[in-house]
Amino acid sequence: MNALQKINRTSFSHKHLIGIEDLSKDEITMILDLADYYADRLDDREFKPDILKGAIILTLFFEDSTRTRTSFEFAAKRLGADVVNMDVRTSSANKGESLLDTIQTLNSMLRPDGIVIRHEEYGAPQFVSQTVPCPVINAGDSWHEHPTQALLDALTIRRRLGNIEELRIAMIGDIAHSRVANSNMHIFSKLGAYINVIAPEVLLPEKFPVQDVRTFSSLEEGLKDVDIVISDRIYKERMEHSPIKSESEYFQTYGITHEKLAHAKPDALLMAPGPIIRGVQLSDEIADDPDRSLILEQVRNGVPTRMAVMDILLKGKF
Ligand code: CP
Repeated sequence: MNALQKINRTSFSHKHLIGIEDLSKDEITMILDLADYYADRLDDREFKPDILKGAIILTLFFEDSTRTRTSFEFAAKRLGADVVNMDVRTSSANKGESLLDTIQTLNSMLRPDGIVIRHEEYGAPQFVSQTVPCPVINAGDSWHEHPTQALLDALTIRRRLGNIEELRIAMIGDIAHSRVANSNMHIFSKLGAYINVIAPEVLLPEKFPVQDVRTFSSLEEGLKDVDIVISDRIYKERMEHSPIKSESEYFQTYGITHEKLAHAKPDALLMAPGPIIRGVQLSDEIADDPDRSLILEQVRNGVPTRMAVMDILLKGKF
């Protein structure tokens, strides 16, 4: 029996994927086990399980995206679904149409079986999930959650190191405005890792979503005994004025380089959700070092992770 047959999808208790906060450890593990199975087969062009044959997946990105949107589309197509990408930049949302009217219009026209949505408003995916009959997947809302990014990050660590429990993971950068950091804190905490946050005071949130997060303003202190270093960029699009006066000073203090990574464990690995800002959050040399950087593995693991999420939420309906 393979992972596709072994997964007990009925024990996944959610219709939608809005946030990691809502998931149990077992549900996260179910997604990662299935994602692992799909990841092993990603290079096999003949592997097309057709689990979603006949399904219509609508992607709605109200914010820019390279990785998330493309990987959702590719993942849905690998599972046999038809994908409709709505281009919000040329849509009637620009004429003042409300989110509710846009959703009701597209729902009436397409009758989608699943909606993937990214929106700059905190809570927009949850709002949409209450207005449509089909599963809704959050592809990132404001600084709230980016659940599939956290899942693909966990998959990347699990595939490289075998386990997440008891690892020490440091997150560096603009934690205050990062939906990725928020979702990562939920997933790593549920999977039993220890969390360090390293940031200047102005980039720290008022409170963390989970207990027992250790905070540091000194990168040297915060990287001690760390296995995984996750660099978050500064989310300028989510603030009126950047609190960082000088990007070159920020890079001197918080930018990840080989020299700074040496403060962590000798074999510590670098991750970043992307897009990465070279020369501000990390150096070219560390970003492109295949022995230390998992950035491209993260991107690659986005496809099987999103295949697993859509499989679990939608299989059985076709
Ligand atoms: N990490 C991430 O969400 O990338 P995109 O903004 O390119 O989707």
